[in-house]
Amino acid sequence: MSRFIIRGGPLLSGSIPVRGAKNHALKLFPASILFAAPVTLSHVPEIEDVFCAGALLEKIGFTVTKRENRTYIISPPHPGVLSSLLEEKIADRIRASILFVGPLLARTGHARFPFPGGCVIGRRPIDLFLDGWKAMGARVRETGTTFDIRASVLHGADITFRVVSHTATESLMMTAVLAKGQTVLRNAALEPEVAALAEFLNKSGARIRGAGTSTIHIEGTGGKLLTKGACRVMPDRIETGGFLILGALLGKKLRVIDCEPEHVSALLEHLRLAGVSVKRGADWLEVSKPAKLTAVSMRTREYPGFATDHQAPFVVLLTQAEGQAMVFESVFEGRLAYLADLNRMGANIVQCDLHRALTFGPTPLRGRAVESPDLRAGMAFVIAALVAQGTSQIGNIYQIDRGYEKLDERLRAVGADIIRE
Ligand code: EPZ
Repeated sequence: MSRFIIRGGPLLSGSIPVRGAKNHALKLFPASILFAAPVTLSHVPEIEDVFCAGALLEKIGFTVTKRENRTYIISPPHPGVLSSLLEEKIADRIRASILFVGPLLARTGHARFPFPGGCVIGRRPIDLFLDGWKAMGARVRETGTTFDIRASVLHGADITFRVVSHTATESLMMTAVLAKGQTVLRNAALEPEVAALAEFLNKSGARIRGAGTSTIHIEGTGGKLLTKGACRVMPDRIETGGFLILGALLGKKLRVIDCEPEHVSALLEHLRLAGVSVKRGADWLEVSKPAKLTAVSMRTREYPGFATDHQAPFVVLLTQAEGQAMVFESVFEGRLAYLADLNRMGANIVQCDLHRALTFGPTPLRGRAVESPDLRAGMAFVIAALVAQGTSQIGNIYQIDRGYEKLDERLRAVGADIIRE
């Protein structure tokens, strides 16, 4: 298994480019199932999860052609070739596989799929998806960890989400596009990727109103597929945040480029309160390590609140900040598991319960061998290793490659001592 070898200490300067957003690109692949003609996607990040999404589409009969410069052409299957069976050994590796079910059900009336994979950061149930599809007329049969869902006719429904869910909002919005009649989604997620997905679908004939607000109205086409479409993947706001945090710890005018500053407002406010000044342009942010970092308590929330995907990297910053802070991970119940390894590197963090921890800083971090438990904790360990004295080894970097394109190359380009073995 490959790993990163990192020697901590060097300051980082120069420009680091942000790639296309994993959590936008991973919705555009399943959205292609709604189309009768080819879909062109550009600025697609070269990451493992995207490769999985492409493989899932090919297994059900689509043609996925990767062009140069991060562009994909996704062409629909010939009539009668489209399969409704999501390949288990691919689908159970990514959470985003659940996003293929709604469009497949809407297009063919049937979908068979395993319980989705993805980061182990909590139970991650799929009740919101199943309840929504049932409300639209589908019948769900569960055998072990495999689900079989059918619907002779999918009709619109008025659906209120028990909790705000990013992918459940996107999944049922896509399903409703081909349904018969009007669907209303209430308590919908506000993440920018939701509005971007709706904009892409509307340009190709869908009729979605209110995406980006908590109530979304969809006028279904009654089964008529969308015309050809094209979409440029938006900058990855989670990558942007990780690089900003890195700059606050080790930056010497580290400039994060090709990003969307507006999408990281909550993190920018926390960095300002921690004593970090950030210069801002239309598509770039520049940050330097301040003389002193001040500990700032944080609570993760749905967008536009502090993103749960920024939590682990931000906790590394708190280990180097003066004072005590409360970390409240309110979105997932299993997203603090990495703290034990961070403490073994020298942090002083007390976990109070599944959702809360207290950090006491600053404490020096020492390099050591750690495994990357999931995507964002993996990034947090990379940041911690770059700050630590000595050398660290980070294993299971497949988890990091799932969401960060050639991270080691981009970090070396701004002065980091990191190699991939
Ligand atoms: C998406 O996950 C992202 N993944 C996650 O990014 C991100 O952390 C999360 O949204 C929150 O922003 C993708 O977009 C592929 P949720 P998602 O449904 O949609 C509960 C990363 O590192 N819930 O918004 O799965 C759930 O347990 C990943 O890039 C139910 O109870 O998250 C959680 O407590 C990690 N029933 C809460 O909702 C359901 O049916 C919010 O989760 C669905 C969710």
